[in-house]
Parts: sequence; C-alpha cells; structure tokens
Amino acid sequence: MKTIVHVVGARPNYMKIAPLIEALKHVNGFRQVLVNTGQHYDDAMSRAFVRDLGLPAPDHDLGVGSASHAVQTARVMMEFEKVCLGDRPNLVVVVGDVNSTMAASIVAAKLLIPVAHVEAGLRSGDRTMPEEINRIVTDRISDVLLTPSADANQNLLAEGVPDDKIHLVGNIMIDSVLRHLPLATLDRVRDRIAVEDGGYGVLTLHRPSNVDERRVFQRILDAIGAIAERLPVVFPVHPRTRQRMHEFGFDKAWPARVLLTEPLGYIDFLSLTSHARIILTDSGGLQEESTALGIQCLTLRENTERPITVTEGTNQIVGTDPEVILAGFERAMSPAATPRRPDLWDGRTAGRIATVLRNVLSNR
Ligand code: UD1
Repeated sequence: MKTIVHVVGARPNYMKIAPLIEALKHVNGFRQVLVNTGQHYDDAMSRAFVRDLGLPAPDHDLGVGSASHAVQTARVMMEFEKVCLGDRPNLVVVVGDVNSTMAASIVAAKLLIPVAHVEAGLRSGDRTMPEEINRIVTDRISDVLLTPSADANQNLLAEGVPDDKIHLVGNIMIDSVLRHLPLATLDRVRDRIAVEDGGYGVLTLHRPSNVDERRVFQRILDAIGAIAERLPVVFPVHPRTRQRMHEFGFDKAWPARVLLTEPLGYIDFLSLTSHARIILTDSGGLQEESTALGIQCLTLRENTERPITVTEGTNQIVGTDPEVILAGFERAMSPAATPRRPDLWDGRTAGRIATVLRNVLSNR
C-alpha cells in the first residue's frame, strides 16, 4: 500500500484536491491522507468549502493561521515535517500557488519524498506577486508537474524542466465546476441576495496590490460605482479586503446597487457566478471558472498567469484604471468573439492525474 499525502490550506485549494481524492479512491493500492494547513480558518473561507465539496475530514489539521509570509511559511514547514516523518508518504500532492503549497513542497523535497504539483507551469512574470514566487519555487523542486494548458508546458520547458516530468492533464478546477453546476441555482442564495438571472455582475477583490493601497482601492471603487449605475454588482468581501475597507473608511462608500455580502460557500458562489452577466475579479481561479462557464470576465490586474483565458476564453485584462475598466465593461456587454472552453477543461482532469500518479508510483 502506497501513501499519498494531499495538502490543502487556503480557499482556492479545496476545489482542486476534492476531485483528485475522489478519483484516487477508485485506484487500488493507495492510502490517501489529507492535511489541512489552516492557512485559512474562518468557516466561510475553509470549512464551508470542505462541506460543499464533500472532502473528507482532514487527517491532520496544522492550525497555522495568518501571519507574515515568512512566519506562515515557516509554521507550515515545521508542522508538515512532523506529518511527513510520521506518515512517511510515497508522494506529496500540492495544488495551486499559495504559501502552503510552497512550504509543503520544500519540506517533502528535502525529505526526498517526491512532490506532484497540480496546476504547474503558470507564470505571470510578475515577481511582486507572492504567488509567483510560490509557483517558481514549487515547480523547481517538484518531480511531477501536472499542467492545465499547453502554455504552462512552454513556460516549464523554457525554464529547463525536463519534458518527461511534465504532464498536460487539463484544469482540475473545472472538474469541480462541472460537477456542482447542476446544484448551482439562484434559489440557493435568494434569501440573502436578490438578483435576476443574467442581470447583475459579481465582484471579488483581495490581491494585496489592489486592496492594501488606498489610492488603488479608491480607483477600483470609482470604476465599480460607475458600472453599478448600469448593472447591480454583488460583492462577497474577502476578510483581507474587509479589514482594509475598515481602515480606509470605505465601509459605507459603496453605492446602493453594490450588494456587499460575507464570503460565500463554494456552491452558493458558483450559483452567483454561473448566472451573472459579468464577473470582475483579481482572483486567478475565477478567470478560469468564468471562461469555463462562458461568462464575460474583467480581470482587475496588470497581468495574468492564465493567458489562455484571454486568448480562448472570456477574459480581458483591464488593470485598475477606471477608464480602461469601463471600456472593457462596454466590450464585455457586447462581446465580439465567441469564447471556447480550452482543451482538457472537460471535467475529466482528476482521472488523468490519477493515471499519471499511478504510473509514477508503480515505476518507483
Ligand atoms: C491567500 C493566498 C492567495 C489566494 C487567497 C485566496 C498566499 C500568498 N496568498 O491570500 O494566493 O488567492 O488566499 O483567498 O498564499 N483572514 C481571515 N480569515 C481567514 C483567512 C485570512 O480573517 O480564514 C485574514 C487575516 O487577517 C489575514 C488576511 O485575511 O491576515 C490575509 O490572509 P492570507 O492567507 O495571508 O492571504 P490571502 O489574502 O487570503
């Protein structure tokens, strides 16, 4: 029996691990162990997702909580090392690009435990983003690089990663989207959020570069205010953003047609996004989800590590200048091109990853 340890820690991890754990249940010869680092800990940021996605209760809860990048990363490393020494996994699976991803991969690599990275090869080229550092480090020390799209393979090859470590498997987040879409109806959220099908926008905002600086946050607020004159906007507020709004005195600065809510669970949020007219976001995952759903998306950043959502999907990179955002909004309201769902974003990525992992482990 071989042991696979899966690591999750922050909200965008859960929907990437859940389909893989499910797929590996059908492969004989594996014991699966789930580790939750506790990088996110609020019910709405963590447990609500575990419940919605049907994830098993974690075998280890590391409880690291919030801290500076160095402290948070170090805490994950210290606690995860104990797990690895106890469980002696044959493989550690990490997903995405959060601090927990990088921390766990460093620990495993130093204990000579092979690391598989799901969502490998994405690059924004912007090292001011903490996630970009996490991506580069994790990919550099991973043994199995599972990529969502061909551009990610190109990035890894250009960095000198050997071809035989790279496996183009598709986008596992879309497995979760397609699986839960039948449950995602507006009736689920109507008691809290009164919106008409196709008649509203959804906003998410949490990047430090957007919300930690008052001037930038103000520009985004101005743009959203102008958009809300045309279309009501639902805004589930991330805890970091909530804190900054409070500090900057922005709590009451939003027009009435911007509906502020607490962070939502996975299926409630999918209900909102899948029926929206437009999504405005600085998230990485939401760029992909909107492309998979065929919903227009404006990305409030200067760059993206997911260019395929622009070239093939519904995404526009508009930054934080209100004029550019509003021009993007006009284009999104009457889109010129018909988007397509990228290859292998088909809901079957977890099965492909399970096959790769089975082959890798049987060869060791
Ligand atoms: C983290 C990830 C980011 C991801 C995002 C999704 C890193 C470097 N960043 O950013 O890639 O897109 O999660 O949400 O890993 N807080 C709470 N409750 C929680 C979690 C956080 O109140 O459950 C507050 C804390 O004050 C914390 C702040 O939010 O200091 C930021 O949390 P943190 O995990 O440091 O970064 P995120 O901005 O959430």
